[in-house]
Amino acid sequence: MKNKKQSNLDFKCMSFFFKIRDIFHNPIIKIKNADIRQGETVLDYGCGPGSYSLAAAEKIGTTGKLIAADIHPLALKKVRKKAKKMGYNIIETIQTDCDTKLDDESIDRIICFDVLHGISNKNNIIKEFYRILKPNSILSLDDHHYNEDQIIDLITSKGLFKLAYSNDKQYNFIKI
Ligand SMILES: C[S@@+](CC[C@H](N)C(=O)[O-])C[C@H]1O[C@@H](n2cnc3c(N)ncnc32)[C@H](O)[C@@H]1O
Repeated sequence: MKNKKQSNLDFKCMSFFFKIRDIFHNPIIKIKNADIRQGETVLDYGCGPGSYSLAAAEKIGTTGKLIAADIHPLALKKVRKKAKKMGYNIIETIQTDCDTKLDDESIDRIICFDVLHGISNKNNIIKEFYRILKPNSILSLDDHHYNEDQIIDLITSKGLFKLAYSNDKQYNFIKI
């Protein structure tokens, strides 16, 4: 089954809602939980309007790279606009519904927040994450549509990842 993107109106409503969310839940908290470090190449998969992309870029600094990926062109437009405004020139954008076209083992860390539930073929995206992550690297993921057992099962059942640690319903999986 093919992944479908939201309508532009739905995307704009969601973006507005996230502005409010970010006032109460500072995006930097999830970035800290994901243990993103200076100089890393980080993929924010399903970046939406970019709350976590921008917070990650701040943490990465000027020597790393932040790749913001989303199925929706408005998401990428928003991220580029915010990056320009903030003066972050380490941010790149990719429009994709699974196949990122990134090189094998080229990514230090993937963050994927509140995205998995909307993806029709979850095994394909988990395989893609496995392909592009460097050995022993971290996939940091959350999705409030699933309980803890479901998330851990979805990500680990194919033997590609194991749970490293979790923090406040955010799960950090290590590539096996
Ligand atoms: C609920 S939003 C979360 C956005 C962001 N991660 C955040 O938490 O602020 C889910 C995002 O995933 C994107 N998305 C859904 N299916 C996707 C897919 N198959 N590939 C890439 N992005 C996808 C949507 O367009 C949307 O921007």
